Amino acid sequence: MKHKIVVFASGSGSNFENIVLKSKENYIPAEVSCLVTDKAGAGAIKRAIRYGVKVVVVNWKPRYLGEKNALCVLEKENPSLVVFAGFMKVVSPEFVSHWRGKILNIHPALLPAFEGTTNAIELSVEKRVRIAGCTVHFVDESVDGGPIIAQAATLIDPDEEIEKIEQKIHSLEHKIYPAVIKGILEGKIIFDQQNNRVIFKDNKMQLSSIFSIEI
Ligand code: GRF
Repeated sequence: MKHKIVVFASGSGSNFENIVLKSKENYIPAEVSCLVTDKAGAGAIKRAIRYGVKVVVVNWKPRYLGEKNALCVLEKENPSLVVFAGFMKVVSPEFVSHWRGKILNIHPALLPAFEGTTNAIELSVEKRVRIAGCTVHFVDESVDGGPIIAQAATLIDPDEEIEKIEQKIHSLEHKIYPAVIKGILEGKIIFDQQNNRVIFKDNKMQLSSIFSIEI
């Protein structure tokens, strides 16, 4: 049977759409069965409708009720992975405990740089970083501090328009997120719960295919 993925998104949903497309192309061996969002106006919703993906809008106020409802959705869907793609909420330790090692997040910076912030790209430009990028990690109790799975980097010119820098980072996100999801579902990337770290079955994957420097 095909794996199921549930994506959580609050924003425009470009990562969500990319994951849906990569699943439809069978690059990711799964079906995106549901989009969960806390924002009734999220751009991701329109994209979900376009691809016939079920949408559940969960009111996140108060958080405990939002999480309770989201956990009910997850129990029903029973996905192999829960993929946060621009989901702007911090989940509680209790939520994590139900899905430990199965929740992924993507952050638009090279963690631990600019962790715990929602405007990592703006801050990177403000600090005039020359190497920017993105990080995919497992979600644990910390904010953006879970075990790192993959990072991709690109050289940037901090004087360039921020939209261009954002585009560069997004295009890296659109490469590494599907690669990580595929790697996990194919059993090539494993979460070692005892040591709270990531194990790569294929050393080449760790060194080349998902860690990339683009110039
Ligand atoms: C991405 O930059 C991701 O790293 C961050 O939120 C953004 C979501 O973008 N967590 P989109 O909604 O997928 O276009």
